[in-house]
Amino acid sequence: MVVTDWQKINASVQAWFKEVRCQLLAGCEAKLQVAKKSGRTDLVTNIDKQVEKYLVTQIKQTFPGSRVLGEEGDRDQDLATYQGLVWIIDPLDGTLNFVKQKDHFASMLAVYENGHEKLGYILDVINDKLYWGGPESGVFCNTARLPKVPDLFLDQGLLDVSGRMLIRNYRNVAQVAEKSMGIRVYGSAGIGFIHVLTGKTVGYCSHLHPWDHAAGKILAKAHGLSVKSIDDNELDVLSSNDVLVATKNAKNDIIKLMRKR
Ligand code: IPD
Ligand code: CA
Ligand code: CA
Ligand code: CA
Repeated sequence: MVVTDWQKINASVQAWFKEVRCQLLAGCEAKLQVAKKSGRTDLVTNIDKQVEKYLVTQIKQTFPGSRVLGEEGDRDQDLATYQGLVWIIDPLDGTLNFVKQKDHFASMLAVYENGHEKLGYILDVINDKLYWGGPESGVFCNTARLPKVPDLFLDQGLLDVSGRMLIRNYRNVAQVAEKSMGIRVYGSAGIGFIHVLTGKTVGYCSHLHPWDHAAGKILAKAHGLSVKSIDDNELDVLSSNDVLVATKNAKNDIIKLMRKR
């Protein structure tokens, strides 16, 4: 069982994300080809596909034998049992924001080796901030180590939830929001994870697919935050789930209120 030096992986990924940022910024200036996926608000652009292709090509060239799971269709088999490097890719997170705002979107990559968390990456494209790290390295924003965040309670901070959960008052989320200092709906899982990592919010909650939560989970765990399902269960990285990332105290408050239905 080969264990790859995390610094070797990191040097490559940092360079790839410089190119990814250029491609996404160029996409902001270009005329986009936009298509619907499952419905009128679930969009994909030529840039989502282009960035995924770029990352998959780089991964397979630089780390032969790697397996990938990409949102836009690049999917190898037997990821759960694979011994070696597995990469989970969300080339453009917050596609709706990208199309409508040219702001508040991210690009994300998670690296696993032999079934273990290795490195997570979330690029805040507009602010040129790459959040990266894992259990071996700790967590960084660009070149600076990210300071730990205080373990605030729900009533001491802001809460980010998905618009879909809020509109449906899913799991009592309106009452949870009322207990917080205020509700925010940013519309990007990547940006949601970043705000909890940096202490701008005490929690983020949304129904997420593997590519939406894999990178954020690695970063949040390495940063001492709680990342669980809203039923307080461990997350399976290859499954979709209702995900809650939060400070430990806010997580306990939120889960208690979500159970009171
Ligand atoms: C979506 C965004 C959104 C979240 C959805 C995700 P995408 O990702 O992160 O905020 O609520 O569940 O699918 O499709 O823009 O990469
Ligand atoms: Ca999508
Ligand atoms: Ca996403
Ligand atoms: Ca995406």
